[in-house]
Amino acid sequence: MANIIDLRSDTFTVPSDEMRKAMFEAQVGDDVFGEDPTVNALEAYAAELFGMEAALFCTSGTQSNQIAINVHTRPGDEVICSNLAHIYIYEGGGIALNSGSSVRLIEGPRGMFTAEQVKANINNRADVHLPNTSLVCTEDTVNKGGGAIWDFNEILKIQEVCKANGMALHCDGARLFNALEETKMSPAEYAKAYDSISVCLSKGLAAPVGSFLVGSKEFILKARRRRKSMGGGMRQAGFLAAAGLHAMKVERFRLHEDHAHAKAIGSVLSAMPYCAEIMPVETNIVIWKPTSNSSAEMIEKLTPLGIKCFPFGPVWLRFVFHRNVSSDQVQELIEKLQELQLDEGDFNLFFQRFEDS
Ligand SMILES: Cc1ncc(COP(=O)(O)O)c(C=O)c1O
Repeated sequence: MANIIDLRSDTFTVPSDEMRKAMFEAQVGDDVFGEDPTVNALEAYAAELFGMEAALFCTSGTQSNQIAINVHTRPGDEVICSNLAHIYIYEGGGIALNSGSSVRLIEGPRGMFTAEQVKANINNRADVHLPNTSLVCTEDTVNKGGGAIWDFNEILKIQEVCKANGMALHCDGARLFNALEETKMSPAEYAKAYDSISVCLSKGLAAPVGSFLVGSKEFILKARRRRKSMGGGMRQAGFLAAAGLHAMKVERFRLHEDHAHAKAIGSVLSAMPYCAEIMPVETNIVIWKPTSNSSAEMIEKLTPLGIKCFPFGPVWLRFVFHRNVSSDQVQELIEKLQELQLDEGDFNLFFQRFEDS
């Protein structure tokens, strides 16, 4: 069996030796009583980094998103988000289950939408038939949009619409540090557009567990209550917070390596005859479509080469780059992708393309 190149997700990252050392040496206490010094340090660091009043350490990105939605809405409200949003597709129906809210989906390129679209989807508050639109959620970067980065000017316009209509604006920033690495915007500058942001520590930042929420003091106080009622009050959580702090202070600054790897693979793939389409590569995610129009068939070809990846539906495939995919492995991957055996159908398509150009 070939050496495995695991491109399934940045959630598969494992902590570095330095991160493990930080965890081992963490000072801990009972965080439910506010006595874990390392959790307190992580929350203070995150709040300051994002220029927000307060922060809350959570068990997962799903938990921090769901808490935020719960705090910003009341049962019977409506949440506006993209049809590709993780909060809608992949959080177990959490918006309905935890918050009793309905969802208004907006379609837009690669999971992004405009302030005009938001405006057009706000329900008339005076009409008692309609759910009260109380929250807009973005996702940055957009996972299902191939790691796409939002245009910050559009976010500012959405913020204006939210303010004018008494709605909150939340960001699912599971991979926000990837976006900020590319735009070079400071977290504090970015956070000015939002009422709350959820950020994951256990994806590209390689912590074993954890996410955090940032927002106003009042918001975080309510979020802390919700976290407890969702079973997220952890005790000596400082061992995990130590990993999260290390993630923010050290791991954050190597994300550009993953982006360079993703972009290199993106350009190799786009020249391959078996690649029909590829989303623009902006961060650490590459989403592409094989000419066979079958992700399962392509995975069958990649698996014996030691290349592991997830299908993104019946047609698309996703490659994710992270700290546990080395530069050497990326080089090996390039060679394997270039040597990939084509079947007759692929050859025909290749020549047809060649003739077209
Ligand atoms: C965009 C996005 N948001 C939220 C989450 C949820 O994070 P978690 O797996 O920690 O619950 C993920 C997980 O992959 C994600 O990709």
